[in-house]
Amino acid sequence: MATEIPDGIATEANAGLGREANAGLGRGLSAVFPLGSRVNERGHLEVGGCDTLELAREFGTPAYIVAVDDLRTRARAFTQAARAAGDAQLGVLFASKAFPCTAVLTLFAQEGLWCDVASGGELHLALGAGFAPERIVLHGNAKSEAELRMALRHGVGLIVIDNLDELDRLEALIAQGALADRGPQGVLIRATPNVKGDTHEKISTGQADSKFGFGMDQVAAAIERVCGVAGLVLEGVHAHIGSQLFDLEPFRREVAQLATLGELAGPEGFATWDLGGGLGVAYTAEQQPPSIEEYVGALLGAAREQLGKHARLLIEPGRSLVANAGVTLYTVQSVKRNVSTWVAVDGGMSDNLRPMLYGSQYEAHVADRFGGQTRCVLAGKHCESGDVIVREALLDDPRPGDVIVTPATGAYGYAMSNNYNGVPRAPVIFCAGGDARVVVRRESFEDMTARDVR
Ligand code: LLP
Repeated sequence: MATEIPDGIATEANAGLGREANAGLGRGLSAVFPLGSRVNERGHLEVGGCDTLELAREFGTPAYIVAVDDLRTRARAFTQAARAAGDAQLGVLFASKAFPCTAVLTLFAQEGLWCDVASGGELHLALGAGFAPERIVLHGNAKSEAELRMALRHGVGLIVIDNLDELDRLEALIAQGALADRGPQGVLIRATPNVKGDTHEKISTGQADSKFGFGMDQVAAAIERVCGVAGLVLEGVHAHIGSQLFDLEPFRREVAQLATLGELAGPEGFATWDLGGGLGVAYTAEQQPPSIEEYVGALLGAAREQLGKHARLLIEPGRSLVANAGVTLYTVQSVKRNVSTWVAVDGGMSDNLRPMLYGSQYEAHVADRFGGQTRCVLAGKHCESGDVIVREALLDDPRPGDVIVTPATGAYGYAMSNNYNGVPRAPVIFCAGGDARVVVRRESFEDMTARDVR
């Protein structure tokens, strides 16, 4: 039986999944926690049926803990929402940059998703994880010749053309025989729809002055250029307006803007429209993003009305598939008081760069004493004053040795992890039904010197 959670933490979970998908899951803890999480009879946080204190003991900290059922449920929520909206053909691409590890990618491949990759490395991961090449879409504003050659060699489903220089490289590669005996390579043109969503400027991409894609007035020329390259076939248009968006209106405006390009396709219209990713998630209990159903419904409604009934639609969610499936566990190393109470843990900006990069807010709790009242700064171990994970955490009298949990670290945490100050990168632990397994092991000191040439 789940223990009573103090006020302010217990809310009816709304995991951004819509009521139905969420029924019976995640109750007792706010929606920032993975579905199915609870505080057990010992008062310890449980994720995927695993006691987080035991996880910390067994696997060490810091560690990324991922609830497998949560990942699956969110993947299915996207496909079910499409079906509910009468569009079973919607292609849901996992934006692999959000959590680029083999186990996560394999799970989504098994769930029937497609994959968005933005580099040769992500392509390598996606292929190795079992995505069929034709379900992989290659992005990037600075794709190298080697990356383009790799994509052609493996026969990825689509290459999203960002600029004319890349088209020159593709043309040369094809002339050199890079397609081998495969048929023509499908491409999309990336358009910058001049729509700005309300998000951090560093992750806003839809505005006219963006490093991504072609301006709306340049798309016609890009299309003409693509059509002049033997071996390429223009499938349609792509746009991505930004990330961590809570308002659905900019997505509708994106569709309306793209619709103005429709006539460039000729009477048949474009075969494919890729509308990008961007759905926001809750990092703290008060935040209320639209549900996956609301997002898919809004996007599909607008797209079917304005982009045609028959075109294939693709979307590229990253964050909304993985953010709330993961939590990070840390161990408190020191507690000191000056003007503030500083609680320093064994990780920080090497495992979660987001507070430093975007000023992102997270929650923190002592994993076996939820709901404290001691106002603390949860600080990382790195040699910078800015290495603060949570500026204002309310913790229950934290002490060295306590395990701290920060929820909602499944997206762009592992992805942007680094070795600053020689800190080995944290492992990824998959938890389901009370079983835990390492899917990415902790980095060792030897790993960190493995590339050094003496
Ligand atoms: N498609 C394209 C072309 C993208 O550039 C992105 C994200 C996505 C899809 C997925 O967007 P999502 O559904 O995750 O919002 N490091 C930042 C996020 C950068 C997002 C970059 N592009 C962060 O930690 O917030």
